[in-house]
Amino acid sequence: MSSILPCKKQKWDALPGEIRVLILKALIQDGCKLAHLATVSREWQAELERYNFARIKLTPSRLADFSSVVHRNRALVGYIWFCLELDDYDCTKCAPSWESLDEFAEAVNISDTDKCPITASFQNLFSILSTWDPKSDLILDISIYSPSDSEHWFKYLTFLPDTPSQTISTKAHNDAQHSWVAGSRHAAPPHEAFAKVFHVVMGEGPFDSDDSEFEWWDQLPSVPAVTSLLLRQQNRRRWKPNALAHMFTRFPRLQEVHYEPWREWDQLQRQTDKQFYHLFESIQRSNIHLKRLVVFENFNQQYPASIQRFQFGEDLIGCDSTRNPHPDVGRMVALASLQLEHLAVSFLVDARHFFAIEPSWEWPNLTSLVLTSKVLRSIEDPVEIGAMLRAAAVAAMRMPRLETMEIWNGRKWLAAVFQYQTLPNARQATITWRATWELTMEPSLIRAWEAVVHHRYDDSWSLGIVQEQLDIAAIKSHGDAIPCLRLSGQVIRPVSLQQIQMEQKALEGAKTV
Ligand SMILES: *[C@@H]1O[C@H](CO)[C@@H](O)[C@H](O)[C@H]1NC(C)=O
Ligand SMILES: *[C@@H]1O[C@H](CO)[C@@H](O)[C@H](O)[C@H]1NC(C)=O
Repeated sequence: MSSILPCKKQKWDALPGEIRVLILKALIQDGCKLAHLATVSREWQAELERYNFARIKLTPSRLADFSSVVHRNRALVGYIWFCLELDDYDCTKCAPSWESLDEFAEAVNISDTDKCPITASFQNLFSILSTWDPKSDLILDISIYSPSDSEHWFKYLTFLPDTPSQTISTKAHNDAQHSWVAGSRHAAPPHEAFAKVFHVVMGEGPFDSDDSEFEWWDQLPSVPAVTSLLLRQQNRRRWKPNALAHMFTRFPRLQEVHYEPWREWDQLQRQTDKQFYHLFESIQRSNIHLKRLVVFENFNQQYPASIQRFQFGEDLIGCDSTRNPHPDVGRMVALASLQLEHLAVSFLVDARHFFAIEPSWEWPNLTSLVLTSKVLRSIEDPVEIGAMLRAAAVAAMRMPRLETMEIWNGRKWLAAVFQYQTLPNARQATITWRATWELTMEPSLIRAWEAVVHHRYDDSWSLGIVQEQLDIAAIKSHGDAIPCLRLSGQVIRPVSLQQIQMEQKALEGAKTV
């Protein structure tokens, strides 16, 4: 051993931490057995444990010995990816027919099974974590999907931990039964296929009512160790927003939430919006002190055409091409944000509704705000855009610590952001319009933002105005708009953005019949 490692302990210790990790990673990738390396020295063992335990993937089956595996290393754990891997399914369930309601309900049912006992797994996980040191910072990332999801209609789906991957897969899919021929898709999935992967978690059991589900969440042990919660868009399956309101109360030290639900594809949006209203109301009322809230409501512009209108019993079911955010939800998000330091909400609410504020509202700690608005469209009357951006300035007056505000929009062939930023060293603030079209900023709009700057800083501060035009052809989806707009506040997890871009790439050039 001493010949490989001149075991000058100080030398190893003197290396910066990142270098030590790089060396270990290189050795591990080289195929060295961890156990082997760990015998080299105590320092190596400590380092390896740090590396091994920092990020952990947990499945229901691994929960059983999680406690004993982790035991004395729990302080090293910073991130837990809790993967509820649902049962595999075959083609009898990948696009279940609605002709028999019972059979449909059985095929989409997301409930306790032997392979994935959802409720028992939460109960176990929360019991274990409830004993963890309440002074630490722990990220809990909850995923729920079936490995079969990427074997049928949605070939390009990936289920990953919260780490952007270096390589984006460009595998050519081939499966004529699901319309994939030589890497391209020849027909859109049937609407039943969407119903399967976007179904509600615990919609048909094991509880016989929502109320009994909420009571169950309420009795789970409290987990003070968790400070960040991630619910990423790769979970196409939907948590009931009302249930999340109950889940969140189990984390009394929660500071940061990243929530990436999908828009609805049927007529349920109105009901889901009511639940969002309750979710944000419960955040506003609860005594958890969230600091950062990032909500990204994902969508895909190609889906609505696939989920065509069709007759379902007496009703004509269909899918609107765009989603209309509800004013009440926007108002409740604004109320819930009064206590925050960072808020980003994309697509789920509209900035117009957020900025309909009341005179008593104040955001004492908010430094960064990111919202979307449907008003930001090239065909919109610039007067409407101006009115919304002046309302934003009025709200900014009530945000004494505000450093950046960004109001954006992104879709196919459309990207726009209005960005307010302070540059204290230059004693300057700027407003930037960066978009696929030019906007003439009216003098009244510029005066409104000058008033924000002079309200907060002395007269030596100036307001700079920047205009940048983006290439419209480069924007094939909202996933392209986000990097082009160079938003300074985080609106989406980087891995989620990669997955959106990957889907876009897989569907590009795909013929839909
Ligand atoms: C869904 O699964 C649960 C648990 O296995 C079961 O109790 C319930 O009856 C199922 N519901 C339907 C509609 O199949
Ligand atoms: C703002 O931050 C301070 C210091 O962290 C905290 O005491 C206060 O409660 C926060 N205000 C609100 C409205 O959350």
